[in-house]
Amino acid sequence: MRRRSLLLGGAAGAVGLTLLARPRDAGENHAPYFEQLGTALDTAGHSGPTLVIDRQRLHDNVATLQSHIDQRFHYRIVAKSLPSPDLLQEVMKQSGSQRLMLFHQPFINIVAQRFPGADILLGKPMPVAAAHNFYRQFSTGTFQPALQLRWLLDTPERVAQYAELAQQLNTPMLACIELDVGLHRGGVTRDEDLIAMLDQIQHSPQLSFCGFMGYEPHVVKVPGDALQYRDAAMARYSHYLQIARQHLGDAWPRDAVLNAGGSPTYQLYDEGAFPFNELAAGSCLVKPTDFDLPSLDDHVAASYIATPVLKTADSTRIPGIDLGPLQRLWNPNRERAIFTYGGYWKALPESPRGLSTNGLYGRSTNQEMLNGSASITLQPDDWVFLRPTQSEFVFLQFGAIAVYEAGAISAHWPVFSENS
Ligand SMILES: Cc1ncc(COP(=O)(O)O)c(C=O)c1O
Repeated sequence: MRRRSLLLGGAAGAVGLTLLARPRDAGENHAPYFEQLGTALDTAGHSGPTLVIDRQRLHDNVATLQSHIDQRFHYRIVAKSLPSPDLLQEVMKQSGSQRLMLFHQPFINIVAQRFPGADILLGKPMPVAAAHNFYRQFSTGTFQPALQLRWLLDTPERVAQYAELAQQLNTPMLACIELDVGLHRGGVTRDEDLIAMLDQIQHSPQLSFCGFMGYEPHVVKVPGDALQYRDAAMARYSHYLQIARQHLGDAWPRDAVLNAGGSPTYQLYDEGAFPFNELAAGSCLVKPTDFDLPSLDDHVAASYIATPVLKTADSTRIPGIDLGPLQRLWNPNRERAIFTYGGYWKALPESPRGLSTNGLYGRSTNQEMLNGSASITLQPDDWVFLRPTQSEFVFLQFGAIAVYEAGAISAHWPVFSENS
């Protein structure tokens, strides 16, 4: 008897524990912000997946960034993370910066034409053929590549290629050297290479050394003390800087560009003395989910994917051996099925709260199924909002960006395109 009641007690305990472990209903309907955004999209006649930027939040993020950099460094706008000329113009105007960092040759040509006053630094070393294509496609205007375009060179071999191209085109070119300050994604790692590259640049009649770029996002990504990693990265930077200054002597460029930073790290330089003179950042101004980092707590999400609901079902069903009922029984957030216009973006559902994809059903770029609890009352033609995980590629997938401002869609900003 005693054994039986023990067994029964144990079974009841297990059921209780299981029920405790059962996910709770996380479903909520749109908060007023997203209700209003949906109405604005309807009023503006949007009917498909749309990338939305909240202009006020974008402005708030620029102001936040400026409050940290606080005139101590120049600010360079990372164009790949804000891939629309109008969006760049907005940030250039508000920040007062003409410094841009670019990563794709066709976009360099577009920027050179659209922003003739820009100072462009490459964020990665381009194949020399891409550099050649820039000059082929560049039609003369007020932008002067010889003074305003800084190619990034990472090895003695690449310096040799660029020296040859410059000679062939008989055109002066600015050469910035990439440093490896701990990320290990290329760039100079040995003093001898740095000295060899500086010598090659000095010996080329067309190349001029214009500075360094040392990117260090690993500082906040690897486990451990970010400030220790920051200091180690800056020690590397200072080391190379000292070698170059010493080696070049009077030939050291007085207006050298010494670039560092990115969204995840730029706030680590609020106080103290550092070897660089400009900080780059882009993503933190629109804040995709990959940038939900403690080092960016005071930035706000400013970009969303909005997509219409095509169909809904009050119970989730899965073709074949239908595990939908079991999933629903266990997890109230698997109760309803919501099919959206498009999907499978690098993005996470944001509103209504409590939506998720279903691994058993699978993903779709055409009509994605999301699940949510019965508390979510979404119906066809309502909007679902997602947050991109990154901006650089995602923003290019939706046509012109819808600009949301004061409760309405106030403008459309075309994104960079190879054909524009
Ligand atoms: C060289 C370089 N600098 C800066 C950044 C920072 O860009 P973001 O602020 O968008 O993260 C990047 C991003 O990849 C980069 O490659």
